[in-house]
Amino acid sequence: MQVWRVAAQAPLTAQEDLRAAAACLREGGLVAFPTETVYGLGANATLDTAVRAVFTAKGRPQDNPLIVHLPHPDCLDWAVSPAADLPPTVRRAMDAFWPGPLTLLLPAHPRLAFSVHPGLERVGVRVPDHPVAQALLRLAECPVAAPSANRSGRPSPTTAEDVIEDLEGHIDGVVDGGPCGVGVESTVAWVDARRVVIYRPGGVTPEQLAEVCGVPVTVDPAVTGERPVTAPLAPGMKYRHYAPDAQVWVWWGDLHKVQAALAAFVAAHPGQRIAALVPPALAEAAPASGLAAGWVWVAPAAEPYDVALSRALFRQLRRFDRLGADHILVVGVAPQGLGLAVMNRLAKASAGRVWQV
Ligand code: TXA
Ligand code: MG
Repeated sequence: MQVWRVAAQAPLTAQEDLRAAAACLREGGLVAFPTETVYGLGANATLDTAVRAVFTAKGRPQDNPLIVHLPHPDCLDWAVSPAADLPPTVRRAMDAFWPGPLTLLLPAHPRLAFSVHPGLERVGVRVPDHPVAQALLRLAECPVAAPSANRSGRPSPTTAEDVIEDLEGHIDGVVDGGPCGVGVESTVAWVDARRVVIYRPGGVTPEQLAEVCGVPVTVDPAVTGERPVTAPLAPGMKYRHYAPDAQVWVWWGDLHKVQAALAAFVAAHPGQRIAALVPPALAEAAPASGLAAGWVWVAPAAEPYDVALSRALFRQLRRFDRLGADHILVVGVAPQGLGLAVMNRLAKASAGRVWQV
């Protein structure tokens, strides 16, 4: 498979590698590319054979719809029905968050391949806030359907190496644009004149949507599970997603109690390879918890913990898997703001092993 590299200095749309990747995409190839959230696996959204090949490469269930990516908000008519009458709330959301990690469910253009949104009137559309993605999409001159570029069920990829690890031999190539900034996927939302419903929490928070749209925002109960947070969430295997091979365990709340929970876990699992993701405040306590130095990822103190954890989460889950961890312990965050998305991914990665202490 091809690895197309991006040079930092030259104008992106003039670069031979990017032009080659865009041509491959346009003609029906499968091309992974960076966005501000995670790497996507792109296919020309107007070609049904190309889109179906995405599902095969990922091992993804055929009934899970794909997000269509556009280079610029001006290209909305590449993906959205010309008959669509969008309310001002939708326009406000686009103006405020595009380009950015917000996917809006909108009436689909009939030119889109059936497999992009099988059996659904609406298609998820977004404009990624990443110069390489924008240049590639511009050069491809077509709407691009792209799920995250991982094997189905695995943590989403945030580097080109992650993509290669999962999809080598199954796709035509990857555009290497370095590591992704946000680290968790876009927020998927339905917006109408009276309300916003979030179907997947992500990089744009419910609080931000409420402020910009000026209407009530609810999170679909299927997302939150509406389960008591003091007990482990129902560990149904259908929730196992974003999951490394190691078992993931999550605690959040009072940091002293979290620290005690980590120490108790380590003490109860002698001889096991245990890794941890912790905030700076717990770093000094980590050796005391029995964790070896190389097995602890400590969030940088320079940014809020939810932002740092979001950026690093999938990357660190994959890294500790490669090292052969049996367990990965994660210090979680309150499920608010960006924390809602982070905790949603952690609930799935851990099959519900999440405790508030
Ligand atoms: O940040 C992102 O959104 C990344 C990058 C590559 O853009 N993409 C991504 O795609 O995460 P994927 O396929 O891994 O997740 C798409 C989510 C799924 O939960 C899917 O069910 C939902 O969006 N979705 C897509 N189209 C939909 C539709 N028409 N109706 C309802 N849900 C939809
Ligand atoms: Mg995905």
